[in-house]
Amino acid sequence: MSGLSAGAPALGTPRLHLRRTDSTNDRARQLALAGAPHGTLVTAGEQTAGRGRQGRAWCAPPGRALLASVVLREVPALLTLASAVAVADVAGAGASIKWPNDVLLDGRKVAGILAETRAREDWAVLGIGINVAVRAEDLPAPIAASAAGLGLQVADVERVLGELLEALRRRLAQGSAAIIAAYRERDALRGHELRTSYGGGVAAGVDDAGRLLVDLVGGDRVALQAGEVHLGGLDEIRTSP
Ligand code: BTN
Repeated sequence: MSGLSAGAPALGTPRLHLRRTDSTNDRARQLALAGAPHGTLVTAGEQTAGRGRQGRAWCAPPGRALLASVVLREVPALLTLASAVAVADVAGAGASIKWPNDVLLDGRKVAGILAETRAREDWAVLGIGINVAVRAEDLPAPIAASAAGLGLQVADVERVLGELLEALRRRLAQGSAAIIAAYRERDALRGHELRTSYGGGVAAGVDDAGRLLVDLVGGDRVALQAGEVHLGGLDEIRTSP
């Protein structure tokens, strides 16, 4: 790992742990608005209103998932990809990333990331859910069909949190080139056929700004921003221009 990240500030202090809350992202946001410092961590054993990207809910059985949100007051340009790379570091060598930030094991989603930024105020809340000890029988059938777990025990959630905070500290301090290179090694979408609002195409990796490249059937190549894309299953992706 790059020595450049050695002096990056630690994450996870102060920490608020809640046995049950609506959403750790919402708790962290409140703390950020009240002036909480960089690295402030909110964790929960259970969320009653866990939120995912694009207005979706995030579902996790009590105690079996890592549910964490971190207040960031230094926000890197590639926060979304850098976070996904850090989570993949923790999930292991077999983990891949479905752009922009779903972390997969064997093609199934093992972790989700919800980064909510306040550009004008220069802070962000980075929310991460990892299925540390989640088993298929813990989830509603439609979710279980596309979800994976790390195959660990409830007692491992805290250890995985420690590994995640260290991986985030290192990855968020790295430059864009290192993050893009790490992403490309774990790219789950490359070569997959996709549908976009520009037409059908094939995922062709990411450019140096982290945008998804798609080679359209007609021969053009488009570069898509994360905010423009609505993700379906691995074989389906819809975009709004
Ligand atoms: C996604 O894949 O759609 C993102 C899921 C993010 C879930 C985490 S769990 C901890 C934090 N609190 C939330 O309400 N959401 C994030």
